[in-house]
Amino acid sequence: MATNSVLLWSGQRMPLLGLGTWQAKPEEVENAVEVALQEGYRLIDTAFNYNNEEAIGRALRRWVDAGKCRREELFIMTKLPHIGNRASDVEMYLTTSLRRLQLDYVDLYLIHVPFGFVPDNTGENPAKNADGSFVLDDTDHLAVWKAMEQQVDSGHARSIGVSNFNISQLEKIVGAARICPATLQVELHAYLQQPELRACCSKLGIPLTAYSPLGSPGAKLHFQQKYNFQYPENNAPDLLEHPLVKQIGNIHGKSPAQVLLRHLVQQGIIVIPKSADPKRIKENGQIFDFELTPEEMLQLGGLDLGENGRIINFMFWKGVEKHPEYPFKQQESI
Ligand SMILES: NC(=O)c1ccc[n+]([C@@H]2O[C@H](COP(=O)([O-])OP(=O)(O)OC[C@H]3O[C@@H](n4cnc5c(N)ncnc54)[C@H](OP(=O)(O)O)[C@@H]3O)[C@@H](O)[C@H]2O)c1
Repeated sequence: MATNSVLLWSGQRMPLLGLGTWQAKPEEVENAVEVALQEGYRLIDTAFNYNNEEAIGRALRRWVDAGKCRREELFIMTKLPHIGNRASDVEMYLTTSLRRLQLDYVDLYLIHVPFGFVPDNTGENPAKNADGSFVLDDTDHLAVWKAMEQQVDSGHARSIGVSNFNISQLEKIVGAARICPATLQVELHAYLQQPELRACCSKLGIPLTAYSPLGSPGAKLHFQQKYNFQYPENNAPDLLEHPLVKQIGNIHGKSPAQVLLRHLVQQGIIVIPKSADPKRIKENGQIFDFELTPEEMLQLGGLDLGENGRIINFMFWKGVEKHPEYPFKQQESI
C-alpha cells in the first residue's frame, strides 16, 4: 500500500487512510489493528467512547515491542468524550486515554462533538433526566480549545482538532486559536458530500477526515435497536449496493467499498473505514493503485443527498437537539 498522506499545520504528515474502530469490540479490535498494521495502515482512529482503547493499546504495544515499526511511524488519534467537554476535564480524559492506549502521546486529539453532557456518577456515561433525555451541560468551545492547546504544550498530543463541528463553530475556534485545528472529522460519503463545509475547510487550509466513508452500513439499524430511534423514510439503497458504485467498480476491477474510498482520497480527503474483518481491512487498503476518471468523479458527485444523506445526527441521544451547540440542521423527509 502506498504511503499517501497530507501535511498538517503541525508539520506532521497524516496518512490518507486509517482504520476506524467504532463498534469494534475489544476482543476483535486487537486482531483488526494487528491485521491493519500488517497491511500497511499506520493511522488508527479511536475514542474514549468506543470502549476499546485498552485492546488497541495492547496491539500497538506488541507491534512496537516486536520492532515491526517505531512509535513515530504510527499516527494514533482519539477523542475527548461528550461528557468531558469542559476545560477542567480535558487533561484528565486525555491522560486516561493515554494510559489505556499505553502511549506517552497521541498524534491527534479531537473534541468528539461540539455539545456537552453532564457525566453520571461513574464518569463514563451521560447522566439522564427522568424522561430519559441526557442532562445538557454548558459548552464553552474557546475555553475547551485553550485546554486542548495546553495538551500540545505538555506533549500529550502532537496535534489537536475537532469533530462534528459546523462551519460557524469551526470558524470561531480558528479565529481565536493559538494552535490551529489540524483536521475536522465529519460524516462524509457519497450520500453526504458536504460541499459548503469542504469549501470552508479548503479556505482555512484544514484537511477533512471522512468518517463513515462507506455510508456506515448497519448504523441505522444499530441506533434503532440500541436507542429505539426511528429514521425518516429514505429509499436510497445502501451505498455499497448502489448500481453506479458497483458499475464503476466493475470497470476498474474494484469493489464498491474501494470505489467509495477512492472517490474521497482522490479529493485529498482522509478516510477511516471501519472493519474488523481481515479480508475487508486488506481490501479497503488497496485504493492507491487505480484512478477514477473525471467523468466517474462527477457521476459519484451526483449521488449527494445533502442533509438527507446524514446518518449520524446524534438525535438518538434524547434531547441533544436542544443543546445550544447542536451542530446540524434538522433533516427534511424525502
Ligand atoms: N467522530 C465521530 O463522531 C465518528 C462517528 C462515526 C464514526 N467515526 C469513525 O469513523 C469510522 C468509520 O465509520 P463507520 O464505522 O461509521 O462506518 P464505515 O467505515 O462507513 O462502515 C463500516 C461498516 O462497513 C463494513 N465494511 C467495512 N469494509 C467493508 C467492505 N470492504 N465491504 C463491505 N462492508 C465493509 C464494516 O463491517 P465489518 O467490520 O464486518 O467489515 C462495518 O459494518 C468509525 O469506525 C470511527 O472510527 C467517527
